[in-house]
Amino acid sequence: MSSVPEAAIAKEFIFVPKAAEIAREAGARLREYFIAGVETEYKGDVDLVTVADRTVEKLIRSRLGEVFPEHGVYGEEGTRERMDSEYRWYVDPLDGTTNFAHGFPQFCVSMGLEHRPKGAKPDEDGTLVAGVIYDPMRGELFSAERGRGAQVNGKPAKVSGVSDLAEALIATGFPSRKRHASPNIHFYHEFTLRSHGVRRAGSAALDLAYVACGRLEGFWEFNLNPWDTAAGILLVEEAGGRVTDFAGGHFRLASDEILASNGLIHTELVGFFDDMFAGRGLRPIPTPEEFARQRATRKAAVS
Ligand code: IPD
Ligand code: CA
Ligand code: CA
Repeated sequence: MSSVPEAAIAKEFIFVPKAAEIAREAGARLREYFIAGVETEYKGDVDLVTVADRTVEKLIRSRLGEVFPEHGVYGEEGTRERMDSEYRWYVDPLDGTTNFAHGFPQFCVSMGLEHRPKGAKPDEDGTLVAGVIYDPMRGELFSAERGRGAQVNGKPAKVSGVSDLAEALIATGFPSRKRHASPNIHFYHEFTLRSHGVRRAGSAALDLAYVACGRLEGFWEFNLNPWDTAAGILLVEEAGGRVTDFAGGHFRLASDEILASNGLIHTELVGFFDDMFAGRGLRPIPTPEEFARQRATRKAAVS
């Protein structure tokens, strides 16, 4: 009898195959809505929601209930099912709603699975054990399971080998609530001066997936939620990267800060956050008013 090597068996995904099927079905629905166009409603100031967010969350909730009837589901659009289960899916049915609503084709479905020890308190983190992120516009499925690696469309995913922030491409996002309270534009500015550039593509889950497959060296954001990050964190870790808070400390799902990287530039990034928060090493750029004065002087000199 031919035998399959044990290591090969151990590497096979357990939860991903069924979750991936659900994510693909959900993504196909998003794609249909995207092509047809949908009305946009406001949840808050500029916090948008559409029929696609709600319908696709319902679809995912019902499919997860069919294939993993013991698992809990915690979704952005309000799903709270079997919250005392040992396993819990964090679901963002549509990450990148603002893009979606504007016809900008960068959005995805994100589903991350947490294993919660029996008796865990509501505010206690378990262990992230599986994650799938599906981009229906590119047909890309990013998946990972704890100890079994990360993949893009079935092929191994690995973080990049760039070891200097100066040569890194990084990403961030900005909150759609309490925008005036966010200091992130300062970080955006400083990171732009210190790296190859900062992308703000509008889907945190895809940003994390891109760190995992080496398209970006790092990602940070303030005030994300577990449905945005759960799947992407595991992807980054399983692809060889690191995820912490801005101080380099242990990341918690309820954390209001996330710093993910290929690992190689992590210490440099943490040092940068330290400097920024202490007001050290900031590089001044002209204010628009100063720039206007310089421009007027230049124009006067040539006329
Ligand atoms: C948003 C996206 C965006 C990030 C926002 C999130 P949503 O999620 O991930 O990139 O900057 O903070 O709220 O609302 O499109 O699911
Ligand atoms: Ca989201
Ligand atoms: Ca969403």
